[in-house]
Amino acid sequence: MTLIEAGPAGALRVAPSILAADFGELGDAVREIDAETDWLHVDVMDGHFVPNVSIGPPVVHSLRRYSTRFFDCHLMMSEPGRYLEAFANAGADGCTVHVEIGGTAKLIEDARALGLRVGLAANPDTAFESVAPFLGDIDLLLLMTVFPGFGGQSFMGDVMTKVAAARREVDANALPVDIEVDGGIDVTTAPIVVSAGANVLVAGSAIFGRSAPLEAAHALRVAARAAQR
Ligand code: DX5
Ligand code: ZN
Repeated sequence: MTLIEAGPAGALRVAPSILAADFGELGDAVREIDAETDWLHVDVMDGHFVPNVSIGPPVVHSLRRYSTRFFDCHLMMSEPGRYLEAFANAGADGCTVHVEIGGTAKLIEDARALGLRVGLAANPDTAFESVAPFLGDIDLLLLMTVFPGFGGQSFMGDVMTKVAAARREVDANALPVDIEVDGGIDVTTAPIVVSAGANVLVAGSAIFGRSAPLEAAHALRVAARAAQR
């Protein structure tokens, strides 16, 4: 199993979320946007941590034939620890678990032991203080800009206070940690999140929900880049 490099922490990245793609034509959809994909964001929902069910390791495994990009797997699950190895074997490069479920230190350790890049996610109403103690042990902090579970929801601007706090902490301590935002990211909100300090932008509807996904992803990148400090 060869893991794909994530690239340097802090670099601006566009991570299309396949949740908004046509699952019947997923391979082609992923190939179509490859040139504008830095990471591919894979949303895994267990019907328990979130009220929706999406995909699991078999789909990650199948998708691996269609993409050589870093697979950024967002595990919206109550018990991700039971599946980390299956995701690693299926071809995940990074796995992100939610802080709200607890047992964070052990999950980070387990994901690390599997060779995965490790992410920690926080819901919009979870305080920065909940994730701050783990910043030295993770590669990625995912700050949700919607409540997880569904694509196509409205961006929650209030989360920018938390994004800015995270950016200050990461920079002050020169930590190699990416700050990712997810939910309602489009050409209008991309400059807002980048100005606040995010460097990985997940977008589903704003890419796969558009008639020309490749061009939409490019437009998102241009909008984000223009706001870089
Ligand atoms: C939400 C997922 C997101 C979702 C984003 O539960 O974690 O990754 O796909 O979708 P948009 O970009 O449509 O808000
Ligand atoms: Zn996600």
